[in-house]
Amino acid sequence: MPAVVVLGAQWGDEGKGKATDQLGSRVDHVVKFNGGNNAGHTVVIDGEKYALHLLPSGILSPGVVPVIGNGVVIDLEVLFREIDALEARGVDTSKLLVSSSAHIIAGYNRTIDKVTERFLGKRRIGTTGRGIGPTYADKISRVGIRVQDLFDEHILRQKVEGALDQKNHLLVKVYNRRAITVDETVAELLAYAERLRPMVTDTSLVLNQALDAGRTVLFEAGQATMLDVDHGTYPFVTSSSATAGGACTGSGVGPTRIDRVVGVIKAYTTRVGEGPFPTELLDEMGERLRKTGGEYGTTTGRPRRCGWYDAVVARYAGRVNGLTDLVLTKLDVLTGLEKVPVCVAYDVNGVRHDEMPVDQSDFHHAVPVYEELDGWWEDISECREFSDLPVNAQRYVLALEEMSGTRISGIGVGPGREATIVRHDLLS
Ligand code: GDP
Ligand code: IMO
Ligand code: MG
Repeated sequence: MPAVVVLGAQWGDEGKGKATDQLGSRVDHVVKFNGGNNAGHTVVIDGEKYALHLLPSGILSPGVVPVIGNGVVIDLEVLFREIDALEARGVDTSKLLVSSSAHIIAGYNRTIDKVTERFLGKRRIGTTGRGIGPTYADKISRVGIRVQDLFDEHILRQKVEGALDQKNHLLVKVYNRRAITVDETVAELLAYAERLRPMVTDTSLVLNQALDAGRTVLFEAGQATMLDVDHGTYPFVTSSSATAGGACTGSGVGPTRIDRVVGVIKAYTTRVGEGPFPTELLDEMGERLRKTGGEYGTTTGRPRRCGWYDAVVARYAGRVNGLTDLVLTKLDVLTGLEKVPVCVAYDVNGVRHDEMPVDQSDFHHAVPVYEELDGWWEDISECREFSDLPVNAQRYVLALEEMSGTRISGIGVGPGREATIVRHDLLS
């Protein structure tokens, strides 16, 4: 099973990092194909916690070649800070490869991200403030700076001049900020160029050759389906393709080569930032999920909004990604509830919707139609076989599988690498 995509099926933080890490010892390459350091993946190995942002989670497995694909946006300072922090903890990062076509987050993009959000006021997206949106906007507007531009100062200077021409008008005249100089930006970007150079390569070629040789490549998404710029809850989304198609465009590997698409999904739902969230719980039950699940952002530390499992979202993720498998995470967090409601459809102004409404306003007004499932009280964190789970937990998983339309191949019962029940092997 050589090419497997692992992506988020909800609004992010489903536990993609843990899912990737778990397969780590059996894969050859792990490629991050979208997003940047807006991502935050927590991986727990032998009780030790690692927080990854820009590096693929596969970097924690010895032997894996970690790859940053062309679809990623890179903050160079963050990249090297993360590398240094991992090296200081004994993690070997020397195999890291970086696409020469990935885009660079310049300081002006971080500034624009922050001032734009401030000016949006009540209409803000609630971004991570890392410059992600403005950098992708530059990419699409064809004024972006790419990794390869760092190795020709003349070209770099020209590109920075081109980008700043427009941006300084915006910063000074609209946002009342100081102008940013070409010199300071070029100096900021060149500061890391030589350290980056040995890692830079044609990662599309490397990955395709690896697949030709029968090696296993895992494509690890940042963010998630409902944050995808095309298929998510636009405009409350990130600015990249976090769905399965993004794995191809963001890595230079064609869709015919992908064998399996795995959606990681929590046994309930969370969301960070603004935007619609039909099953959100604003009462003490939401607080309980947040506390029990430790639902605070890995990147910004913001409390995550919490709510029940939404099978409409799961079915939608199944459809737009062509999911072959689901990995259901954090089932342990639901232990101790009398009843567990699951959203099976929406009521929009008296009309039942079994599928995701196409109109954004309808989704904003969607009221969940719940089915209540029986809860369980037993501690499930030590369960390693499906049959070890209490009967009601088994029924909950099987009901979700039925409602979601994709088989549930793995179940998370704790944050540790080992705390997983495997129902179907994701790599065979
Ligand atoms: P990602 O962005 O999708 O990689 O997810 P995050 O790392 O941001 O958030 C998931 C959090 O849940 C992390 O703190 C994980 O350690 C934790 N986690 C993952 N799977 C499980 C699980 O099955 N049970 C519990 N209790 N925690 C989990
Ligand atoms: P992982 O990979 C959860 C959200 C932000 C905001 C919106 C746009 O850990 O699942 P951006 O800075 O990307 O322009 O912000 O997207 N967001 C995430 N939410 N998990 C993430 O990543 C996210 N990355 C971005 O909160 O609502
Ligand atoms: Mg996360």
